[in-house]
Amino acid sequence: MNDQLATLRAKRQQALEGGGPSRVEAQHAKGKLTARERLSILCDEASFQELGALATHHTTDFGMGEHRYPGDGIITGFGKIQGRRVAVYAQDFTVLGGSFSEVQSNKISRIQDLAIEAGIPLIGLNDSGGARVQEGVRSLAAYGEVFVRNVKASGVIPQISLIMGPCAGGAVYSPALTDVTIMVNGTANMFLTGPEIIRTVTGESVTVEELGGAWVHNATSGVAQVIADDEQHALSLTKSLLAYLPQNNTEDPPALEPYDPPERMDEALNDIIPADDHVPYDMRELLGLVFDHDSIFELHKEWAGNALVGFARLGGMSVGFIANQPTVISGCLDINASDKIARHITLCDQFNIPLITFVDCPGYLPGVEQEYNGVIRHGAKIIYAYCQATVPKISVVTRKAMGGSYVALSSKQMNNDVAFAWPSAQIAVMGAEGAARLLNRRAIEAAKDPVAEEARFVAEYKEMFYNPYQAADVGQIDEVIEPRETRPRLIRALEVLRTKVTQTIAKKHGLFPV
Ligand code: HXC
Repeated sequence: MNDQLATLRAKRQQALEGGGPSRVEAQHAKGKLTARERLSILCDEASFQELGALATHHTTDFGMGEHRYPGDGIITGFGKIQGRRVAVYAQDFTVLGGSFSEVQSNKISRIQDLAIEAGIPLIGLNDSGGARVQEGVRSLAAYGEVFVRNVKASGVIPQISLIMGPCAGGAVYSPALTDVTIMVNGTANMFLTGPEIIRTVTGESVTVEELGGAWVHNATSGVAQVIADDEQHALSLTKSLLAYLPQNNTEDPPALEPYDPPERMDEALNDIIPADDHVPYDMRELLGLVFDHDSIFELHKEWAGNALVGFARLGGMSVGFIANQPTVISGCLDINASDKIARHITLCDQFNIPLITFVDCPGYLPGVEQEYNGVIRHGAKIIYAYCQATVPKISVVTRKAMGGSYVALSSKQMNNDVAFAWPSAQIAVMGAEGAARLLNRRAIEAAKDPVAEEARFVAEYKEMFYNPYQAADVGQIDEVIEPRETRPRLIRALEVLRTKVTQTIAKKHGLFPV
């Protein structure tokens, strides 16, 4: 027995060493932690249970028989984060560049299956050079095994991807199929085809960082939702994010004991809307005054800044928020903002997280480029997502709700549950100046003083529509409230809607506009 134990211990020790001291040193020199160091930070102390630590590949081509490492460049298993059970995998770049092999696929697939059956979140720490070249088609097929499970798990358990090094080629699609992707600034990159191939095919010269760095995917492509300053930050953000999500789609998201008085009314809200219509205000400041103190977790913070989305808390309850940001292109909806909002609605709905929408939007962004690039199909995603969502939905119109944006942003007819408006709300088919040109052009042109005639029409139009009262009169707004009352009103509405039940028609699936 002593010999057998010694063998086991030696094998385990070898698994703990990854690619060996020099490769661990090289990993550290790049400012990166090893896979095991990352897991020890992510999981509660002594909670990680490994599976498959001794699995090795069986490839012998290209001298691979000489390069067999227990675990084959990936660590998989179960752990706890803040006491909650999770499944985790972490690619080990020190072993064959973390390259994706048949064994890696088997190990990830195994914990994906177990995570789905157990109904617990799956967190993937990615750091890999992509498909293991020496395994040929077997490593390509292996990706398919993971993708099919990513899709099976979608909407069942939360899936969070951290990119902590390269994520190249086929490797990018697993994160892209998950709920939230967090990238580490400076060391993470994602790309389908690398700089060398791009240079050959298109002649473009670009560095890895310029092509697919954390900043690119957070601010330009919208592929990632969160950017982290470093690895510690990424792991800490993962823990914060998880706190808003349930274990699986059959559970409600975890609630905290209320730590900010539900009845708190912030007087500053009553003064937040500028007297001049054309002057913007910061929607982030507004959200900070309404939600529980320090509870906002924003997604896509650097992308499509004209819309804000994320998680927050109200009276300790986890909610998803969607808001227009008047400081960026007046809060208009464009292609990227539409994608951002629609994705977030769907993310919240699949995990039973109520939606709170703050509306201040002059409409969809006009422009040839927007139309050519399909603002119609992108804009339709918002409508589809809201209509499909069955979670409690509450809206607050703070200022503009014009035309398409009024309808699209959680209007009553689109199954919104409770609609509030502030006295500053302006609910109309279009802005006053546009309406004057459309309805009164001839009268304005024929008038002795066209400027005065246009001003008269604009004033009349504003008097009629630049308030919430016509909408309240016809039942499109449930209640006009003082801005400072927003927080207690939302919390009371949420308490009522907590037990909301919605009947849906059985179908295979609809056609989500893409
Ligand atoms: C096998 C790999 C590998 C891979 C890296 N390595 N990527 N081995 N298959 N895909 C090995 C290297 O040979 C090296 O081994 C070790 O890992 C470390 O790699 P380095 O290149 O020394 O590290 P670094 O300089 O940090 O560069 C990292 C990198 C680079 C940028 C990721 O390795 C790279 O460009 N790799 C290929 C990326 C790529 O194009 N992947 C796409 C594959 S195709 P030694 O022993 O020399 O230290 C694909 C399509 C799948 O994924 C589609 C499915 C749908």
